[in-house]
Amino acid sequence: RIELPSGVADALAAATRVVVFTGAGMSAESGVPTFRDDLTGLWARFDAEQLATPEAYRADPDLVWGWYEWRRARVRRAAPNAGHLAVAELETLVPGTTVVTQNVDDLHERAGSRAPVHLHGSLFAPRCTGTAAHPADVPDAADVPDADVVPDADVADGDPAAGGRIPPPACTRCGAPVRPGVVWFGEALPRAALTTAIEAATTCDVLLTVGTSGVVYPAAEIPRVAMLHGATVIQVNPDPTPLDPVCAANLRGTAAQVLPTLVAAARR
Ligand code: APR
Repeated sequence: RIELPSGVADALAAATRVVVFTGAGMSAESGVPTFRDDLTGLWARFDAEQLATPEAYRADPDLVWGWYEWRRARVRRAAPNAGHLAVAELETLVPGTTVVTQNVDDLHERAGSRAPVHLHGSLFAPRCTGTAAHPADVPDAADVPDADVVPDADVADGDPAAGGRIPPPACTRCGAPVRPGVVWFGEALPRAALTTAIEAATTCDVLLTVGTSGVVYPAAEIPRVAMLHGATVIQVNPDPTPLDPVCAANLRGTAAQVLPTLVAAARR
């Protein structure tokens, strides 16, 4: 068990408004790879420019769609970890809790979190690329049939170009190709999600930042916004990150190890 600095336990016990800001490290103990941890991180195997940009999708839709299907199959086989469950429990202990995640998996939801704010979209909300008959701004989570992708297909370990190509399905409304419902590099974040996240960050007493490297903006701005508005910012990450200086406490541990102890402090 992690010994909490006294200020952390007191801040949590007194908090009425909490933001839990999460990144890929939140899902690492569920077996979903992170992006930047060396060796295991997804990007370590792929060139981000190759897969997570509108240009990549236009250039090779089957490769990009196949990679996201592989990720979706991985997530389907994963289970929420003790960290996700602790966050869901915090929501019942402190009703003024808002979960803001950069993750595109559904593990917070499956752990019982009511309405996590997805700053970078979701693997489970594919979108139509839009045609005149069906303007792209009409978010139509096309009911895309689940591809029978074998999650541990060696797409992740081999040359992405070699395997895992899956043609994107057609939109059920207009027939245009469907795209992953995630935010790609160079794309704007969903306005409603960003507004909700910033609003929560400016009004919270405590912000927990868990499992993010804090290098991708504007999401990485959220902990600083909270600190600037007087919140106590607590980081849960085995490694140091650029967010360290913004934090009142840096708990060097993993989500599944530390969050249950943090939530126990809020229970008192
Ligand atoms: N518990 C907590 N933190 C962990 C764990 C764990 N078990 N394992 C790893 N970490 C930490 C790593 O030390 C790292 O700081 O989680 C962080 C993961 O960082 P990234 O892989 O960069 O993931 P993230 O910060 O969510 O990336 C932000 O970048 O690629 C884009 O859109 C993508 O949402 C993503 C964004």
